[in-house]
Amino acid sequence: MNMNDSPTAPTASKVIAFAPGRCDRQKAHRAQQAHHACRDETLPIAENICTVRSNDWINPEYKHLVLSAPATALTAVAGQFFHIACPPGADEAAYLRRPMSIYRVEPDDERIEFLYKVQGVGTRGLARLAPRDTLDALGPLGQGFRLPAVAPGEQAHVLLLARGVGLATMAPLAQEAIRSGARVTAILSARSASLVMSADYLRESGADVLVVTDDEQTSDVVQIERMIRRVHAAQAITFATTCGSNRLLSTLQRLTAEFGIPGEIALEQHMGCAIGACYACVRPFRKHSGSDELTYRRVCWDGPVFDLQETTSW
Ligand SMILES: Cc1cc2nc3c(=O)[nH]c(=O)nc-3n(C[C@H](O)[C@H](O)[C@H](O)COP(=O)(O)OP(=O)(O)OC[C@H]3O[C@@H](n4cnc5c(N)ncnc54)[C@H](O)[C@@H]3O)c2cc1C
Ligand code: FES
Repeated sequence: MNMNDSPTAPTASKVIAFAPGRCDRQKAHRAQQAHHACRDETLPIAENICTVRSNDWINPEYKHLVLSAPATALTAVAGQFFHIACPPGADEAAYLRRPMSIYRVEPDDERIEFLYKVQGVGTRGLARLAPRDTLDALGPLGQGFRLPAVAPGEQAHVLLLARGVGLATMAPLAQEAIRSGARVTAILSARSASLVMSADYLRESGADVLVVTDDEQTSDVVQIERMIRRVHAAQAITFATTCGSNRLLSTLQRLTAEFGIPGEIALEQHMGCAIGACYACVRPFRKHSGSDELTYRRVCWDGPVFDLQETTSW
């Protein structure tokens, strides 16, 4: 951990040139979906040396990390992540970097933010960061969400279904969707009301926010399904996203198939390199929607955001 003179001390990045091949699914996806906002194939990935502005607890389990970041880091889009070199803890150190989704990017303020659950050696090290410390964040990495275009004159309606820390991944998508003129409905699920994060931030961004909790016994899949059906009946959902949870995945797969709309999921997987080289993060996927044939993809490089119907449960 290094110290700098001020929380907004100059940041630096060492750019690693990257233009590797994509998996077949992505080449096909990109060819078929020319209406999607495609990113340039030459990816600006860098070892970004960021400076901590703040690193505060927002509830008993989660911290919010705000960093001054160099220009390369500020190109991150919703669904992408950084591979973070976590500083050592009191008497332990994480050998590998840890992947963290981008929670917020504010290029005008040269700022990126993360929301993380303090749970193991890496995040316990992150939790020790103080203003003016520096942090090495490799990225931005992976494929972000691809908001489908809607017909002229129609308004997109994006559903975000997030539980726990999955919210960190979905929050910037809400911002991007609202900026593009979409309506956003966010269903936030948590064990208890005190662990619901970012409801205010999402509301301020313009999203309709619905909260369900285990404590209030409103977070079971039957009630969530009823809620989604009500939301869809009020204004047709045009794109649905979720993350992390198997039971939310299968509910949303079923409903999006019934509604005839596209969807995506952001997956979490333990990672080694996070740049597509070691194959530690490979998972099985359906070759295409409805197919019984499986194919194998790297979560770090081909994802972490994948087509909802191609994703297999775990
Ligand atoms: C793309 C992506 C984005 C992510 N974004 C965020 C985010 O925004 N915020 C956030 O809080 N987390 C996020 N995560 C999850 C985070 O990277 C992991 O939880 C990370 O392991 C935490 O590191 P740690 O050292 O604190 O905990 P670890 O020591 O890695 O332990 C975390 C948990 O994983 C279990 N575990 C450890 N190794 C394995 C293994 N090989 N197989 C199965 N289980 C294992 C441990 O028992 C423990 O329960 C993301 C993960 C991915 C892949
Ligand atoms: S973590 Fe190395 S290929 Fe994905």
